[in-house]
Amino acid sequence: MEISTSILSVNKEEATKTFYNIEAAKTDYFHIDVMDGKFVKNNTTDFMLESTETIKHISNTPIDVHLMVEDVRDFLDIYIPMQPCFITFHYESIYNKEKIKEVINEIKAEGIKAGISIKPNTHIDEIIALLPYVNLVLVMTVEPGLGGQKIIPDTLKKIKELNEYRKKEDLDFYIEADGGINLETIEEIKSSGADIAVVGTAIINSNSMKDTINELKK
Ligand code: DX5
Ligand code: ZN
Repeated sequence: MEISTSILSVNKEEATKTFYNIEAAKTDYFHIDVMDGKFVKNNTTDFMLESTETIKHISNTPIDVHLMVEDVRDFLDIYIPMQPCFITFHYESIYNKEKIKEVINEIKAEGIKAGISIKPNTHIDEIIALLPYVNLVLVMTVEPGLGGQKIIPDTLKKIKELNEYRKKEDLDFYIEADGGINLETIEEIKSSGADIAVVGTAIINSNSMKDTINELKK
């Protein structure tokens, strides 16, 4: 199980110090939650941009960008030059399958892995046709927009279904789960078939990030 630490709940006053600590705690990825104040109420665009620049400056740990935005292309122009490992956008922000495939190819053409994310109420049937093209599916296990929420148990079924489908069709996309994941919920995330778990508050608020990440990875 790989861990992608979400920086959404980092205290801005001590952001750089916290990024050093997350790096030292050996997270597998930094998870960058870009919110435009339109797709979700919260707006994190400035903090996420400066944080990504800081993280790139102080660390070689791969960056996992999660775009919760309406104008996906605008944010590709900002984040593609940062050369993250993943850029994931929401199915619900485009809906048009052909356009989604174009965006996926645009990201992959830059040597960046392309992910599609689905909100809790979106069923995997809506993205089945896209699965042969994506490198990652991000299953939201909470409603996007906030850290520190409780996991929505129903979303675990979607992770299981995706895992089954992936095996049946011999596809090789990563399954990433995001929201409300902690030491209590990580087991069922793992057993459902997720490869990467996004964890925010459970790591940021813990008294030992290293121990927490080690526990989560077990
Ligand atoms: C929510 C974000 C998640 C969130 C995870 O919209 O996509 O990445 O920050 O934070 P926790 O682990 O606190 O739920
Ligand atoms: Zn996220």
